[in-house]
Amino acid sequence: MESEGNLLGTGEARKREAILAKVFDLVPDTLTITRVADGRFVEVNGNWEALTGYPPEEAIGHTSMELQVWAVPEQRTELLAQLRRDGEVRSFDVTFLHKQGHLYYCKVSASLFESDGEKYMLLAVQDVTRQRAAEMEIRELNQELEDRVQRRTLKLEQANTELAHALETLQHAKDELVRTEKMAALGSLVAGVAHELNTPIGNGLTVASTLEHKISAFNQAMADGLKRSVLDQFVTDTRNASAILSRNLTRAGELVRSFKQVAVDQTSAQRRKFGLQEVVSEIVLTMGPTIQEGACTVDTSIASDLVLDSYPGPLGQVLSNLISNAMIHAYVPGQGGVIGIHARALERDEIELTVRDQGRGIEPANLKRIFEPFFTTRMGQGGSGLGLHIVHNIVTDVLGGRIDVQSVPGQGTTMTLRLPRTAPVALPR
Ligand SMILES: Nc1ncnc2c1ncn2[C@@H]1O[C@H](COP(=O)(O)OP(=O)(O)OP(=O)(O)O)[C@@H](O)[C@H]1O
Ligand SMILES: [Mg+2]
Repeated sequence: MESEGNLLGTGEARKREAILAKVFDLVPDTLTITRVADGRFVEVNGNWEALTGYPPEEAIGHTSMELQVWAVPEQRTELLAQLRRDGEVRSFDVTFLHKQGHLYYCKVSASLFESDGEKYMLLAVQDVTRQRAAEMEIRELNQELEDRVQRRTLKLEQANTELAHALETLQHAKDELVRTEKMAALGSLVAGVAHELNTPIGNGLTVASTLEHKISAFNQAMADGLKRSVLDQFVTDTRNASAILSRNLTRAGELVRSFKQVAVDQTSAQRRKFGLQEVVSEIVLTMGPTIQEGACTVDTSIASDLVLDSYPGPLGQVLSNLISNAMIHAYVPGQGGVIGIHARALERDEIELTVRDQGRGIEPANLKRIFEPFFTTRMGQGGSGLGLHIVHNIVTDVLGGRIDVQSVPGQGTTMTLRLPRTAPVALPR
């Protein structure tokens, strides 16, 4: 270090001066020493020129203001104010102007010291231009990334909105379809009922008019003098006619009754809390004689703690339909078989109820149609084909569940009901 300012004095201090001079030049930062009184550089270290662009001789003896190294002079004012106030400054951010005219960014630490009654300022300058550029780049990258994420999010949101819209449209379309289907189903139901009723009522009418003729003939015969054989014949004919009449009227009555059940709804059914086990036992008990007649046995396994808040009446109707279907369709009349009724709890407050037989099973082609109104494979043998249609309506509309069928010809049929423990609230129709 040159002793222009005679900083470290002579004698003992010479050794220390030599050491300090080495340190002064070896540190990686740029170091400057300025006289506080006039602000002139007294000393700059070896890094100075590379940092500022000024050779040391152009700096020493001059002030930083003369060299115009401060790109933002207010930063100098602030630095000096802090230095005066605290005696030192650490990592103060400044922007300097290079001799070549470009800006560079530094962190400056400063402290004051005294030598020979003169005040000096030591400044350590660290060039952080590169670091700053890297930070800026990272910040820009981050910003870009954020922008990109935002753009994506926006796109996703748009897509979502579109999807929601599409879903709504679909829902509308589905509702519309259901409505149309219901209308169509109602139409075919009415046509079916008319068709079904046609036979018994037509039969009844034929028999009634035949009977009318017989009565006229009998009247005539009475006027002519009644013969025993004619009277006998008349009694037999009348008895036969009334048997046919009552059979057909009963059939018509049955059809009307099941037709009425098609429209079964919640409003007409009693809702209450009940143990599933009890309701099932009750149904099985009520059906006991019929079940025995069909030589069937019912094997139930239902957890005793399954409690439903639902409609026991309609549920019973479903069960008795499924049991009688198993007796009639699955097993050969008189030979019988086992009908299993099982129930277990599912997740989400649902239960599963199955009615299973190991009988004849259902042909795959028929499997799709069994819930349709009037689909029966026992046409003319007492089957109306309304049973499973009613079952389906009750399960979905009243009990708020769903019914599925699994069947393999020759291996039996399983009807699986998934029901909520708490049936939905009846909607006004
Ligand atoms: N457990 C079963 N095993 C075999 N076939 C069955 C079984 N249950 C129903 N089916 C078939 O499904 C058809 C429709 O059943 P559904 O209960 O609707 O009418 P049905 O029993 O024929 O007449 P209804 O119940 O009105 O007296 C039946 O005709 C039969 O072919
Ligand atoms: Mg049936």
